[in-house]
This record gives sequence, structure tokens and C-alpha cells, in this order.
Amino acid sequence: MQNLTHVNRNRIVPRLLKWFRAHGRTLPWRGPIDPYAVWVSEVMLQQTRVGTVIPYYRRWMRKFPSILSLAKSSEQEVLRTWEGLGYYRRARDLHKAAKIVINRFGGNLPGDPELLAELPGFGRYTVGAVSSIAFGKDLPAVDANQKRVFSRIYDIRQEVDSPAGDKLIWSLAAAFLPKGKSSEFNQAVMDFGSSICLPRNPDCDACPVRAWCQAYQNGTQNFRPVKKRRGKSPHYHQVTGVIEHHGKVLVKKRSEGGLLGGMWEFPGGRVSRMSSDTIKGAMKNSLGVKITSLAPLGTYRHAYTHVKVTVHAFRCKVDSIPNRDTTKWIRLSRLGDIPMGKVDRLIARKLTNV
Ligand code: ADE
Repeated sequence: MQNLTHVNRNRIVPRLLKWFRAHGRTLPWRGPIDPYAVWVSEVMLQQTRVGTVIPYYRRWMRKFPSILSLAKSSEQEVLRTWEGLGYYRRARDLHKAAKIVINRFGGNLPGDPELLAELPGFGRYTVGAVSSIAFGKDLPAVDANQKRVFSRIYDIRQEVDSPAGDKLIWSLAAAFLPKGKSSEFNQAVMDFGSSICLPRNPDCDACPVRAWCQAYQNGTQNFRPVKKRRGKSPHYHQVTGVIEHHGKVLVKKRSEGGLLGGMWEFPGGRVSRMSSDTIKGAMKNSLGVKITSLAPLGTYRHAYTHVKVTVHAFRCKVDSIPNRDTTKWIRLSRLGDIPMGKVDRLIARKLTNV
């Protein structure tokens, strides 16, 4: 076990706060505190960078300016507004939680972390971030930036994504919190992590706390945090069929539980290898009809968190009209109204030339 007692918290905390007051970012959700705005931003910022989030955040707040307006919207509208940010479960959980906040809490997000933790989408990070930033509670909010900063300050050799490493960092972050200033401190560490204590080549020359940073003292900053080695993600091939009929095209809704749940796609499925038979088999499986002709439309690659996919799109003709309860015909000009994943959106754009 490493000796973690020699870090001088009393020197580091005021310097990080001072740094934040001078260099913290001006962000659209950092105005006068609106718990809903903090909540939306914190959910968007999980897995997604600030620069990507800002335009989505602005659009979202224009479309759903209050918890009530979010709760009253359809899930399809919610997913369409989230489209492009990925990890769509976050949007579905926001929507579900908004309905609960209306029904159970009269439309006000509760400030009690234990109540927050009962809402869909509120894991430890979201509870910590929302209750500290929106409600001034003294709770840590360890995101990837904070993990990196603390793993360097303490020069942690343990894998930070192991259960023990994760637990250690959360307890160090909790011990660091300056009481009554946790909102500012949590955001200070996040901003510091994204502009000075960078993943690669951290800017230690500009760092106000390097004199107390164990990794800097030991010259290990480029080797922290230590992460588990990830295996290569699997790569699979998928066929996707575009079936047009009288100016409409057939789309299928993905099942609620899985990847891209609730989003629409052109029908198709995974294939072990590409041949006319496997393509027709996958289409038959997906729609229950026979494909009578195929013409290549394009090939698309996409990397999800744990898998890589190559999508082979075809224009298809079929021997009968497919009719499953998960499918619908939609006018080409209305494709923009339904939520789709990245690849299907590219195919839709190709069909409509927009
Ligand atoms: N990343 C996640 N939450 C953040 C916040 N509140 N400020 C800056 N970066 C963040």
C-alpha cells in the first residue's frame, strides 16, 4: 500500500481555488444557479467534451427550458434533440427522471443527495456533481479529469479503473473538499484537469500546485493515471437495407433496452461474412420478407465504446410489403424528424441529399 499521507492538502486547495477564480471557464450553465441547467449539463458532460456539449446544451435548453417542458415531451423528441451526443440512455433517463420530479417533487429537483440517487440516471458522479454545484452540498464528483488530477497529486500506482483504485480516488477527493466550497472546488479540479493537468504532456510549468504534486516530484506525471489494459474491441459487419415504396422508406425501431434503444434505423442485421446469401438472410430475419434484388449504396464505419461496426448499405427490392409492429413507412422528407444513430443518419442524408 502506498503512503498517501504526505500530500499537503492545505497548500493545494487554496491554490486550485485561486487558479479557478482566475482561469475557470465561462460556460453557459455557470450563470445564476438553476438546478435543472446544472443537471442537464452534468448528464451531457459524462462521456462528452465541453466543446461538443455546448451547442447541444443550448439547443436542449431552448427546446426544453424547464423540467415540466421536458416531462411533457415525447421520448422521440427527446432522443431527436440528443441525437449525435451518443449514449442515448442518458437522454431516456433524463426524461424519465423529469416525469418523476414533476409527479413526486412538484417540479423541483430535490437537493437531498439520497433522493437524487433514487432518480434514473443519477449514479454517484451525477449525485455528487448536482448536489455540490446546484445545492452547495459537500460531496465529491469524480469524473475522468478529477481522477487524473488526484492520481497525479498522490502519484497513485493502482489502476484507477479497478474497484479498489476507484474507491481510493473517491475517498481522497472527499477528504480534499473544502467545506462549504465544494461546488467551486469540484469545478476547479475539472477545469484544471482539462486545461493544465492534461492526459498527455500536462502543462506542469503552468501548474500552481506542482510543488506538492507527488507525480511531478517523482517525474511520473506522464504515467498517471494507471489504467487497465483494454482488449481490442471486436469488429463486426452489418447489412442495412433501404426499401423505398411510393416516396416512402421503411424504418425500424430499435428495442428499448439495448444500444441506441428507441432510435430508428433502416432494417438489417449482423453478418458473419458478406455474400448475397448472408445479406438476404439478414434482411429476411429483420423483416420476414424475401429480397429480390440488391444494389450497393455505401459502406460506413463506426466505433462504439466496445465494438467497431462496418455497415454495408444496399438498396433492396422485396417480394412483398413488410409489416412488423416495430416498422413504419416514412416519407423521405420526414426522415429528419425521427431519432437515428450516426450511420443511419448518414444513410438518410444520402437518400435525401441534405
Ligand atoms: N465536466 C463535467 N462537469 C463539469 C463541470 N461542471 N465543469 C467543467 N467540466 C465538467
